[in-house]
Amino acid sequence: MFYRIIYLFLLVATGNGIAAQNITWSTVAPGVWKGIVGKPEAYDLLKAADARPAAALKNMSEQEFPFAKADISGTVTDGKTYLRFPLEKEEQLFGFGLNFQTVHQRGKILQLHMDHYGGKDNGRTHAPVPFYVSSKGYGVFVNAARYINVYAGSGVRKDSRNPPEEKDRNTDKSWSSRPYSDAVELLVPAPGTEVYVFAGPTALDAVRRYNLLNGGGTLPPRWGLGFTQRVRSLFTAAEVKQEADSFSVKGYPLDFIGLEPGWQSRSYPGTFEWDKGRYPDPPAFVKEMLDKRIRLNLWINPYVSKSASFYKAITPFTGSHTVWTGEVPDFTIPEARNIFFGQLKKDQVDIGVSGYKIDEVDGYDYYLWPDVATFPSGLSGEQMRQTYGVLAMKYSVNLFRDKNQRTYGLVRASNAGANSYPYVLYNDYYHHEDFITALINSGYIGVLWTPEVRASKTAEEWLRRFQTVIFSPMAMINAWSSGTKPWSYPEVAAPIKELALLRMRMMPYWYSEFAKYHFEGTPVFRGMSLEPGYQVNANSSVKNNLEDNPYLEAVTKEVKDQYMAGEYLLVAPLFTGQTSRKVVLPKGRWYDFYTGAFAGDGEVITVTPGLDKIPVYVKDGGVIPMMPPLLHAPKAGEKVDLEIRVYGEKTGNYRLYDDDGETFDYEKGRYDWRTIRIEKDSKGKLKGSIEPSHKKDVQSYGKVTFQFMTK
Ligand code: GAL
Repeated sequence: MFYRIIYLFLLVATGNGIAAQNITWSTVAPGVWKGIVGKPEAYDLLKAADARPAAALKNMSEQEFPFAKADISGTVTDGKTYLRFPLEKEEQLFGFGLNFQTVHQRGKILQLHMDHYGGKDNGRTHAPVPFYVSSKGYGVFVNAARYINVYAGSGVRKDSRNPPEEKDRNTDKSWSSRPYSDAVELLVPAPGTEVYVFAGPTALDAVRRYNLLNGGGTLPPRWGLGFTQRVRSLFTAAEVKQEADSFSVKGYPLDFIGLEPGWQSRSYPGTFEWDKGRYPDPPAFVKEMLDKRIRLNLWINPYVSKSASFYKAITPFTGSHTVWTGEVPDFTIPEARNIFFGQLKKDQVDIGVSGYKIDEVDGYDYYLWPDVATFPSGLSGEQMRQTYGVLAMKYSVNLFRDKNQRTYGLVRASNAGANSYPYVLYNDYYHHEDFITALINSGYIGVLWTPEVRASKTAEEWLRRFQTVIFSPMAMINAWSSGTKPWSYPEVAAPIKELALLRMRMMPYWYSEFAKYHFEGTPVFRGMSLEPGYQVNANSSVKNNLEDNPYLEAVTKEVKDQYMAGEYLLVAPLFTGQTSRKVVLPKGRWYDFYTGAFAGDGEVITVTPGLDKIPVYVKDGGVIPMMPPLLHAPKAGEKVDLEIRVYGEKTGNYRLYDDDGETFDYEKGRYDWRTIRIEKDSKGKLKGSIEPSHKKDVQSYGKVTFQFMTK
């Protein structure tokens, strides 16, 4: 009764049935604030991921709160939380989940909902991360494990500070069906939520703060950055060995092989134990592969068959619904995860398996549990759906952590907070251009994405796809259905081999750049808008004018087919059928990666690279440390020589990262950063030097030579 009176009082007080709430703000770290609206739920994205801030977060610069706090509102009505953030005229927005067709998100209406990507950027995706970053240099994150509705600058409130002008469509050609909106509005179906605001000053700084809050990016083992082949379903141990041997005989690099359905005695649903026919002696098989320096990654989805040895034990801890008739373990319950991951440990990890591909934890409504499903922990179907991939990643990583061995695997569902987990997203969609747009978008939201290669209609397509997977977080052929090999298209086998070897040669660069992702939060693969000096219309007189029509800007001018790879590289892929393309070079001098020749400065160039080249450009002063084209990543303690390529005319420094490449000892300080200095001698000629290693037990690099690429 008492509460009813209060409620009625609130209704009267606000006049419109909306209970106005104050947002309570607190400072979490320099330039990071947390706001509480209403009563946040006990289970949220950061709790699901167990995300803990990385050490470097506290070293970020102090910044002002990026808005007037009074311009942000949070109210709870109808059991849901309504959030509003201001939006200025010239702002563009990025993020809001793993989108595949658009980079600019201003004007979008989305529901962030875990799902297999269905061909539309509507929020249903493999990583529906509720984080966005603005071109004005700040970020916003809503920490709720819910399906969140997003109106990214579409709604127009009566009390808008910058209302659109009323126009008469009968007479005024400038009438717009989408009048100007000055707010990002979100609806969280929960009676409260946490929100985080991240300062810049640049958009990249805001992304870095977001990544660091969530533990920093992942640091893969060195071998994870080599090449991986996923073999056809139902392969036998003998066939897998043969596959590995053919890579080595033909001289193609290979660090790990992925086994697809068929390694288990049953699957969909799975037993999580080896099939005795195809794999009669798993320990001997895994050992033999490791002796060949090939690690194994096993496909699973977590749905448990009645034939699984632990089926009876796990049933009390599974959800109300099945997936493909398999039971769904509630990983938030210790018993469920001990039983499930205990099986993986005993049967696979303990004999040397190096990782997993955690499949089908994202959705498709017709096979996943419906929202009406219940789980024994009390979590709802919706909360479980938003976080199931995150839970599976979290507990599988512990299997490897316990052995002090890093892993690097694949997952089909991720979310906020999982930034530091060593998993790369993929899916069944196969649109090459959209795969690249997803790679760009992954960098805004703290996840990794691979544009995996499966099969192709032509040799041209095969080569074009291969070129991009080499410049991605996981260089992979997924031949689970096609049975393809890198050399499957003989016309292009030579350039394919060259590319695979280039991936290996670039390992010191990739490894250092991933270390920067881990320790400093800087995404390795990222969109051009995060690059200083980048302007869409680099050499045209038309300005980026978001004032006239932000939506038009988003759909007509966005660049979604070129991206940054590490500190210095700009990658501009070509797709099947293209022989030339435009590349937008940000301000500053850029050089051709292969020849070192000057390519342009703050301009749009048109290039015709030939089929065997993917255009890659290096920023002035770019330093790319490379190693010999080995067929496997160097082992812990193995030394490799370095060839340090230097591009352009600028002097500068590069920070080369080193550790044992395999264990978690870097978390205890067993790592090294060595400065590579590029200076000018008395005659003005560039010369290079590298600091000696600072740690006796961290020395992966032997002889160092410098290669000045720009003559
Ligand atoms: C799909 C997955 C593929 C492959 C296949 C095996 O769901 O996306 O990559 O693993 O399952 O059945």
